[in-house]
Amino acid sequence: MAKHRVAGMDDIQPGELKRVEIGDVALCLAHVKDGRFCAVADVCTHEEVELSDGYLDGDEIECPMHGSRFNVATGAVRGLPANQPVRAYAVEIDGDDLMVDL
Ligand code: FES
Repeated sequence: MAKHRVAGMDDIQPGELKRVEIGDVALCLAHVKDGRFCAVADVCTHEEVELSDGYLDGDEIECPMHGSRFNVATGAVRGLPANQPVRAYAVEIDGDDLMVDL
């Protein structure tokens, strides 16, 4: 695995989602209002829809297409119709940078 800078801490405000592409990997980066930064694969497991176009509600991402919900830290399904988790990635803070191991 290799660690990549995905954004600066100021690039994403609390409550926001942001799509980040590192090579051929697309991530949905989230800044939870409690201060955590999280990342999951930026594709819903129900259909090919970018989760970063959805909404962050607490620590859950809601897909903009049919409303599936995923825990932003673990990728676990929290609401149907999706029934498979999205891949979650740990986000580390290094100074002002957000780093993800891919
Ligand atoms: S595409 Fe995400 S819930 Fe259907």
